[in-house]
Amino acid sequence: MKLLVAGGCGFIGSHFIEYFLKTYPKAHITNLDCLTYAAHPDMPAHLARLDPNRYCFVPKDISDPMLKSWVKEFKFDAIVNFAAETHVDRSILDPDSFVRTNVMGVQNLLAVAREGGNIRFVHVSTDEVYGSLKPTDAPSVEASALDPNSPYAASKAAADLIALASSRTYKQPVLITRCTNNYGPYQFPEKLLPLLIANALENKSVPVYGDGLQVRDWIYVVDHCRGIDAVLQKGKSGEVYNISACGEAPNITVIKKVLDLLGKPHSLISFVGDRPAHDRRYGLDSTKIRTELGWKPLVSFEEGLKTTVDWYLQNVEWWKKVRGSDYQKYYQANYDQKFVVKNANKSEVNS
Ligand code: DAU
Repeated sequence: MKLLVAGGCGFIGSHFIEYFLKTYPKAHITNLDCLTYAAHPDMPAHLARLDPNRYCFVPKDISDPMLKSWVKEFKFDAIVNFAAETHVDRSILDPDSFVRTNVMGVQNLLAVAREGGNIRFVHVSTDEVYGSLKPTDAPSVEASALDPNSPYAASKAAADLIALASSRTYKQPVLITRCTNNYGPYQFPEKLLPLLIANALENKSVPVYGDGLQVRDWIYVVDHCRGIDAVLQKGKSGEVYNISACGEAPNITVIKKVLDLLGKPHSLISFVGDRPAHDRRYGLDSTKIRTELGWKPLVSFEEGLKTTVDWYLQNVEWWKKVRGSDYQKYYQANYDQKFVVKNANKSEVNS
């Protein structure tokens, strides 16, 4: 298979490339990535080392209007799109870039796939498009209404709808995956788990938004990649597939678990002001992909967390390099100033 992966230098995309090259010895991958802040500077070299004969990197943006003629030449069998702005907090500060990449970029890539020979197109989306669940709600199914609350989630929901409309209007072979919160090695330290691990290792406080009782549904990144692969190989065109390991847990429970694994005190936990429009709970029902495509997660939360923590312990240089970047510092200072107000009174929840 000749695959075009868009956004392959990001966290999930890079794991997918590694998984795919290792699983299919005859596969060839072209990785299209414009290297935003979320791509570690060492990632292109890391991926190139996996198998230089079956992998190539093209530094381009999915919004590039010239992509059409370029893709036509290469005759790809399929496109998998990971390219996106993904951090909710950043979407609150800078929604424009989310609309540009997540909506306009996807629209362009869909047109590229059509003009490149109606190439099979897997679009990687998120559970955030369903919005927030109440504690007693059943987990979201593929037919649940879209009800996004952040600019990030709204941009992903818009792209999902454009992709589905393209499938209906142009008979384009488009498939959508919606997954829960990923964790694992190489995740950019702005997301909860890597931020928490990096802060704790530096004996810095760990910011917990609001009361810390928001629920997220966790999945090990390679299990997510296996799910995308199942959809790519066996999924039905025009369909949406939820991917989840049914790993719902409140943030504060996960945070304490990680601190325990690191041997760090819970006193590092610092309750801060809440994220605006913070979704209280996500939970996905993944019966469809399990029954129709035979996928299931293989890595337990305990096992995945241990692998992840060990990786961050052994790769201190990797996360220090991106944490020290000017862009990251600028963003953090702005975010702290605008949204995060220290709130010492919440500390009793910490006990
Ligand atoms: O659900 C899938 C989504 O998960 C993906 O589509 C998004 O790209 C990804 O960013 C993630 O969104 P979340 O907002 O759930 O992830 P984040 O790591 O930012 O936050 C996880 C939870 O932890 C959330 O309830 C906010 C909270 N949090 C986060 C940070 C960064 C804190 O309490 N403190 C923090 O410093």
